[in-house]
Amino acid sequence: MNAPVLTKRIPTPPWGDPADRHIVDFQEYRRTGGYEALEQALSMEPEKIVGAVKDSQIRGRGGAGFPCGLKWTFLPEPDGDRRYLAVNCDEAEPGTFKDRLLCDFDPHLVLEGIAITCYACRLDTAYFFIRGEYHHQAKVMQKAIEEAYENGIFGPGGLMGRGGFAVECFLHRSAGAYICGEETGLLEAIEGKRGWPRIKPPFPAVKGLFDRPTIVNNVETLAAVPFIVQEGPDRFKTMGCESSIGAAPSYGPKLMGVSGHVNRPGCYEVDLGIKLSTLVDEYCGGMRGGKAFKGAIAGGVSMGILGPDQFDAEMDFDIGTRYDVMGLGTACPTIFDEETDMVAVARNIARFFKNESCGQCTPCREGSGWLLKLLTRIERGDGTSEDLDLLLELAGSMGSMKGTTICGLADGNNWAVRTIVNKYRPEFEARIVPKFVPVTIDSA
Ligand SMILES: Cc1cc2nc3c(=O)[nH]c(=O)nc-3n(C[C@H](O)[C@H](O)[C@H](O)COP(=O)(O)O)c2cc1C
Ligand code: SF4
Repeated sequence: MNAPVLTKRIPTPPWGDPADRHIVDFQEYRRTGGYEALEQALSMEPEKIVGAVKDSQIRGRGGAGFPCGLKWTFLPEPDGDRRYLAVNCDEAEPGTFKDRLLCDFDPHLVLEGIAITCYACRLDTAYFFIRGEYHHQAKVMQKAIEEAYENGIFGPGGLMGRGGFAVECFLHRSAGAYICGEETGLLEAIEGKRGWPRIKPPFPAVKGLFDRPTIVNNVETLAAVPFIVQEGPDRFKTMGCESSIGAAPSYGPKLMGVSGHVNRPGCYEVDLGIKLSTLVDEYCGGMRGGKAFKGAIAGGVSMGILGPDQFDAEMDFDIGTRYDVMGLGTACPTIFDEETDMVAVARNIARFFKNESCGQCTPCREGSGWLLKLLTRIERGDGTSEDLDLLLELAGSMGSMKGTTICGLADGNNWAVRTIVNKYRPEFEARIVPKFVPVTIDSA
């Protein structure tokens, strides 16, 4: 068990008592070693920092797991005009609550990551895009941004007066739609438009906010940057795990917010690769009421479900290939016990996606409505066995991976519905009332 990296100032079990949590302001952050990584970064060539982040092989913590350093290298050379960092703190994926913890208690860690990233990638303006419902967190972050301006991190003469480069940082509150977390929906929202995802390419690194080069990164990804700069990529790689299937590794610590039927739900900092059963039994105090594990949403409802025989699944970026879910997602699992009605779970998730579809793509707009109708019918006991097949066929046809939609919201709907039906099919079949079909004998 490695000492905490991202939550070292946030008392988190087993390292500390959550009752001792408080907002770490600028003075306390500085006193406890904060902004020393920025000082170190400012003494380095920007390319060296990009190289260190690339060497760490850190993969994005927002859901897609894209290598962060590689993404940064997609930026074109600076041309003297604006370049942006869009910080994704939308965190609207059901069951996900990890970025919130960082905003709640250690806002300057996130701001230090932002400052270093802007310096390394030559980005002069950062927008901190925060979920509309995060009222308290928005206030905490706004106060911290003001402190960072007052103390020479942002603004003219900022970056501690040593970067030869100024960074502006603005907080932007979302109007409150899940789709605004999709990176191009987020860019549209910052531009003041409806949060409709854009067709890619062009990718944001080339043509992003206001058509200018933009890096979009998740809060937790950016919060890991000071550690990588200060301790080096090799130290980062002592945490997490190699791939067991010859794919890219899953290095580093990860915040995992666990909810559902466990004794101690909460956000825990662990090494990537931890078994789900270890997370539940050793960190969360086991299953609530000693009941049996029935399944878990892997990391946000978009990822699909881990079945009853997948309690020992390793929580790393290989999870999709190994356990028939879409991926690790946000690594915030929701745990279900033996008494859970999986038909109701599927219907509830389908309702979420139907409500949150932005409506641009027909397969997502219409398909999400039909999935909900079919699941509602089956849950009520009015479904037919054809409905179950239709459900799987319909879900399987939706998504950007299938080339039928612009963004991944429809893939999430597809994976959630298909994996729940496939892994708990007898429960769905039990709800289907056999229909009497009269047999006609042709007497001719
Ligand atoms: C429907 C949808 C919602 C998303 N919501 C979020 C979110 O709330 N926060 C986030 O960081 N990424 C979210 N993403 C992923 C982003 O599009 C993007 O991959 C991520 O912000 C990149 O940051 P990272 O590389 O640091 O992970 C979402 C994607 C989709 C398709
Ligand atoms: S897949 Fe759905 S949410 Fe994404 S752009 Fe298309 S309609 Fe909108």
